[in-house]
Amino acid sequence: MTVTVRAAAKINLRLAVGPPREDGFHPLLTIYQAISLYDDVTVSEADTWSVSVEPMGDLDCSGAPLDESNIALRAGRVLGAHHGVERAAAIHIAKGIPVAGGLAGGSADAAASLVALDRLWDLNTSDEDLLRLAADLGSDVPFALVGGTARGTGRGELVVPIEDPGTWWWVVVPNALGMSTPEVYREYDRLYPDLLSHHHLRVHDMAGVLRSRDFRHLGRNLENDLQPAALSLRPDLEQTDMDLFEARAYRLLSGSGPTYLGLVETQERAHEVREQLLDKGYTGIRVATGPVAGAHVVKYV
Ligand code: C5P
Repeated sequence: MTVTVRAAAKINLRLAVGPPREDGFHPLLTIYQAISLYDDVTVSEADTWSVSVEPMGDLDCSGAPLDESNIALRAGRVLGAHHGVERAAAIHIAKGIPVAGGLAGGSADAAASLVALDRLWDLNTSDEDLLRLAADLGSDVPFALVGGTARGTGRGELVVPIEDPGTWWWVVVPNALGMSTPEVYREYDRLYPDLLSHHHLRVHDMAGVLRSRDFRHLGRNLENDLQPAALSLRPDLEQTDMDLFEARAYRLLSGSGPTYLGLVETQERAHEVREQLLDKGYTGIRVATGPVAGAHVVKYV
């Protein structure tokens, strides 16, 4: 028997970051949105654990680990341990989400692996338990289960869905050179050493912005606190920012980068901007829409 679960990339429409907590994590107030770039995770019965990764299209997957450190495999072990089940599985990941891009591809794989193995092993894990296991695996994993658009707090793992009736069009501009999330947070701490004394995490009326379905309204409210830190580490990204500006898109760094996002009005405009950037020598550019669903079964045979 095999089960395939699809999980989406995430972006942060707003990402407000506070000073580091005692455990080293940063308190966040964020608005997540799941967008239509997907990893498909297929699990099947096996005597020993294994993981394989296959790119969808021209994606470079060489950064995805194939050993015990792979987060989809760790998710499987954690789920088994939770239920006292001593079973293994072969995990195959068809990757459509750029690796180390700030799009939470690894978190998507972990969420998909949890849902797929829950089904394969007929465990009937409660939503509450799945969300808790997801949170232990990584800050973005609970959102990958939930999908849609949601407000995230804590270190990002506390997720509450919010209404988002619009259809938003994104031009996704990956960068060949991945970035390390911890490094970007460290740079953030270096740039803002005085945060402790005055910082309040605020994301004002994003619900109203989303309800308006007006891309200009959303475009003017996109904000990522990690952007200056990522650009400080990678000044070359300024060029992407500028090229998206010239293409008349609203620009946003995705998560901790280096992927850049351009928000435009329609699907047609998104393809136009994609073409413009391809002409400038960019590669791997995708058009995506959001919000889309969280991890869900697409095949069960
Ligand atoms: O939770 P996750 O494994 O995705 O986090 C990866 C790293 O990113 C953490 O080890 C930490 O350095 C940083 N991080 C953080 N604050 C958060 C989320 C992540 O400092 N809220």
